[in-house]
Amino acid sequence: MIYFDSAATTLQKPESVAKAMQSALRTMSSPGRGGHPAAMRAANVAFQCRSELGELFHVTDPERVVFTMNATHALNLAIKTLVPPGGKVVISGYEHNAVTRPLEALGAHVTVAEAPLFQADAVAEAFRHCISDDTCAVICNHVSNVFGFVQPLEEIAAACRERGVPLIVDASQSAGILPLDMEKLDAAFIAMPGHKGLYGPQGTGVLLCGKEQEVRPLLEGGTGSLSAMQQMPDFLPDRLEAGTHNMPGIAGLLAGVRYVRQRGVDRICRRERYLAHLMAEKLRGVPGVQVFASENLRQQAGVLSIVPEKADVEALGEELGRRGIAVRAGLHCAPLAHRSAGTLKTGTVRLSFSDFNTSEEVLRAAAEVRNCLRR
Ligand code: ALA
Repeated sequence: MIYFDSAATTLQKPESVAKAMQSALRTMSSPGRGGHPAAMRAANVAFQCRSELGELFHVTDPERVVFTMNATHALNLAIKTLVPPGGKVVISGYEHNAVTRPLEALGAHVTVAEAPLFQADAVAEAFRHCISDDTCAVICNHVSNVFGFVQPLEEIAAACRERGVPLIVDASQSAGILPLDMEKLDAAFIAMPGHKGLYGPQGTGVLLCGKEQEVRPLLEGGTGSLSAMQQMPDFLPDRLEAGTHNMPGIAGLLAGVRYVRQRGVDRICRRERYLAHLMAEKLRGVPGVQVFASENLRQQAGVLSIVPEKADVEALGEELGRRGIAVRAGLHCAPLAHRSAGTLKTGTVRLSFSDFNTSEEVLRAAAEVRNCLRR
């Protein structure tokens, strides 16, 4: 199988990830629960994982690196900390349901900073226009999960700083793939999955918490600390990490993060961008296909969408699957992004890459798209 669905989850992982998980299952218990060697091994791996994530994303205090189940969990923690019921929020036109559904559940007053696809300047301008002094939070993804559009995070962060509004970044499609600097952005929170560009297993996610950030737990329970107290500890990461940790997941995530650091984010980014660019170029030559890709390499990460003019996207996705090419078709849990790009009615077929894909795979997949549409 040619796997082009890494925007959902990366399937090909470094060998070290599975090894680390197996070793954790066999040798680690629970961090902070006991002073015996199995608990200490777990505590060391958890600390090491926080530290290396901190180094990768420029968070000086490893305690501000919080483990979650996935990016959705991390986003819920951030959103439910900063947005009171009915609070005013500004989001981009390319957000995922992981942002829009919690906001809907809170009854938030949401303003969408509308801008056309692949027009980063227009996105920045729209945010500057929409943010006001009573905005509770600005929420923006770094990269659209549907189109691979790289949003102008630094400009959006600057607009937030100017108005004193906290910024939540959804780094689901950029963590491990594009440089991301918590200190430079001065973000309130950055949420990310462990199982996409960081090559950890499913069931892992991370919330990076900004300095001085008050946080609200979603869950209360045991933390291995201050056990006599009936309130959650007021310090991180314990405040947000109730219950036993996913140690095999954290050990696998650490191995994934080490892979990314060793390969280098810049190298991974160049590769994914090259593959997306090559795919776009090849598909533009296929009659009857609309390709959503930017001419500007810097505005696109390793994700791209297409719409066949005369076929249904689900049917094309399934046919590609039968031919051994794994893609995702439909709305990708991001109806807002499709609305913004004008593809809400059709959906798209999405092809998304990882560091493990090759240009030969891209050429084969492009040829299969052509064959499918010829029938
Ligand atoms: N958000 C993930 C995707 O885009 C699951 O497929």
